[in-house]
Parts: sequence; C-alpha cells; structure tokens
Amino acid sequence: MSSLPFIDLKAQYAQLKTRIDARIQTVLDHGQYIMGPEVKELEVKLAAYVGVKHCITVSSGTEALFIALMALDLQPGDEVITTPFTFAATAEVIVLLGGKPVFVDIEPDSCNIDASLIKAAITPRTRAIMPVSLYGQVCDIDEINEIAGTIPVIEDAAQSFGASYKGKKSCGLSTFGATSFFPSKPLGCYGDGGALFTDDDQLAQAAREIRVHGQSQRYTHTRIGVGGRMDTLQCAILLAKFERFDWEIARRLEIGARYQALLQDLPVERLALRADRDCVWAQFTLQLDNRSAVQQALQLAGIPTAIHYPTPLHQQPAYARYGAGQSFPHAERAAQRVMSLPMSADLSEAQQDLVLRALRQALAA
Ligand SMILES: Cc1ncc(COP(=O)(O)O)c(C=O)c1O
Repeated sequence: MSSLPFIDLKAQYAQLKTRIDARIQTVLDHGQYIMGPEVKELEVKLAAYVGVKHCITVSSGTEALFIALMALDLQPGDEVITTPFTFAATAEVIVLLGGKPVFVDIEPDSCNIDASLIKAAITPRTRAIMPVSLYGQVCDIDEINEIAGTIPVIEDAAQSFGASYKGKKSCGLSTFGATSFFPSKPLGCYGDGGALFTDDDQLAQAAREIRVHGQSQRYTHTRIGVGGRMDTLQCAILLAKFERFDWEIARRLEIGARYQALLQDLPVERLALRADRDCVWAQFTLQLDNRSAVQQALQLAGIPTAIHYPTPLHQQPAYARYGAGQSFPHAERAAQRVMSLPMSADLSEAQQDLVLRALRQALAA
C-alpha cells in the first residue's frame, strides 16, 4: 500500500498546466531548442532573484559544480575542502578534475559542515572550499568566507535555492553559488538542469565559455570546456514555474515549521535551525535511533520515506581513499539516523497529519 507521494510533482503540474503548456508550445513554435531566448530570460530573472550580476544556466547541478571548479582552474593535486555528508556529486567533480577532496566533519545538529574545523584543514594546496547547504538551510557561509580569505568558496546550493540567509539569498553568498533544478529540488524542471551564480565578471565569462566547449565565439575554442548547456525547453518550464516560486517557498517554510512543531513531543531529533536564516526543506529530514523499524512501519502505513544519505562519502568505496585513516563521527552518526518525510509545496495539512499519525504510531510500537 502506498497512498502518499514522497514529492508530489503531479499536483504541482496540475496547478501550473496552462502556463507550462503555453511556455512549451512557444518553444515548439520557435524551434530554438538550444540556447533559445528562454535561456537568457531565465538567467536574467534568476540573477535578479538571487541578487547577483550573473546567472549561467547549465545542464545539471553536478555540471554547475564541475564548471565552477574548471572556471577556477582547479589543477591535478589541488585540494578542495568539503563535507563527507552530502550527495556524491559534490566530491565527484573534484576527483574528476584530478583534485583531492579534503573532508571536514559536520555539525551534529544542523548536518552542515562545521566551519570551525575548516581552518585546520587548509594547506598550501587548498584551491577552493565547497560547503553544502544541506536540506535547504544555508551553511555558516559568512564564517567560511572569513576563514577562506582569498581562497574561492563555492556554495553547493543544490538543495537550498530560494533559502534566505541574513536577508540575502542562497547562491549569492560566495565566489560561486551552484544549484540544481533536478525535478525534486525546490525549483525543479522536468529533466536535468542547474545554474551557477556569481558577481565576478571574469569567472562568469569563463563559466559561459566552458559551458559551450570553451568557445569565446563560434568555433573559437579559447579554453577546454564541456557540453554543459541547459535545454531551452527546461528553461521555459522553469519560467512558468518561477511565477509561483515565492508562494512555493512560503509554503515550504510553513509546512516545515508545522512539521517541526508537531514533532516536538516525539522521540526524534529535529534539524537545528539557525535564527538568522531559513530552511526551504528540499528534504524534510529528522534523526532517530530505531530508523529501519520506523521506516518499515511507515511503509506499511503507505508513507514513503528516504535517507539522505545512508553512507558518508569517506566510507563509500569510490571515495574511501580520501578519508583513509580518518573518522568523521558526526557524519557517520547522522548517516545512521537521518530519515526524510514526504515534502513538497503542495503537501496538504491533511496529508501532513496522515504522516504524523503514522509516525507517532511507528515510534510507539
Ligand atoms: C548536495 C547536492 N549536490 C549536487 C547535486 C547534483 O545535482 P544534479 O542531480 O542536478 O546533478 C545534488 C543533487 O541531488 C545534491 O543534492
């Protein structure tokens, strides 16, 4: 039995169908599927939303991180400080360029990188710091920027697009902000997509060129690049969805706050929220001890759950050598205990009550 979707993309489409269909039809009519006018239109709107000079749309969140590191000219052997408690893409792009991910443990309560541990991890080879704003709450980016000094900071904001931090927006808080438009993300398209944000003209120019095989103009390849463009159709879909994005973010904040309040008297640990920022809950995640039993009981009750993430990267076969001999106890403990509940802007109070009732029963069993 499964009655509730984990993320309700169909309900969202039903609400926006007329606008989305019209936007798609416009692209079909003009036929500029690659770098059509919707690409620029979206970039202008998103840059204004984030409050930075440049938005460069790319083919995924992974590509955004990859292109950011290429624009910063990451060289083999260079080190990039990051968190082991994230989706693999964060470290993958570093390794793909011959770099070395240097892991630093997380804060046990927010699950974001512990900024106070970063300084000790900086060496003469440190070329960038890549924190993640996990679950939709911006990491301690001001502290990280301060510790970084002249070292570039890339915010992996795949999960935090739309989140506020001290009155500013995620993605506009450091050298580069990189986000994902994967369908389940706070701003999701209907396929793969992503974007880079920066105030730096030269880095923006580099990223734009890298996205199209390093071309500064057609068939002039001034640098090595990739095929990393975002489709016009996906940009068109996001333009339609962006029209109600403020409403969606407000709903996410409300639903998240309601979950947090209703969980207060249950034997689970809620994500710690910092007072100077919000969390847009790309995943609504909590921590608990008897996870697998609770997950099973919820599944039987028709409530899907997910684990973000079950194994920290330094314990993954592909990345183990970057954490050899080291332990990151908070990341390891969180990986054993995190569990995400259904979440989307269209989740109704009745659905949320269903989740809570089932969770309460599962915890009491
Ligand atoms: C923290 C983080 N970084 C990077 C990515 C990669 O984004 P994409 O799937 O769009 O390539 C994701 C996507 O799940 C993510 O959660």
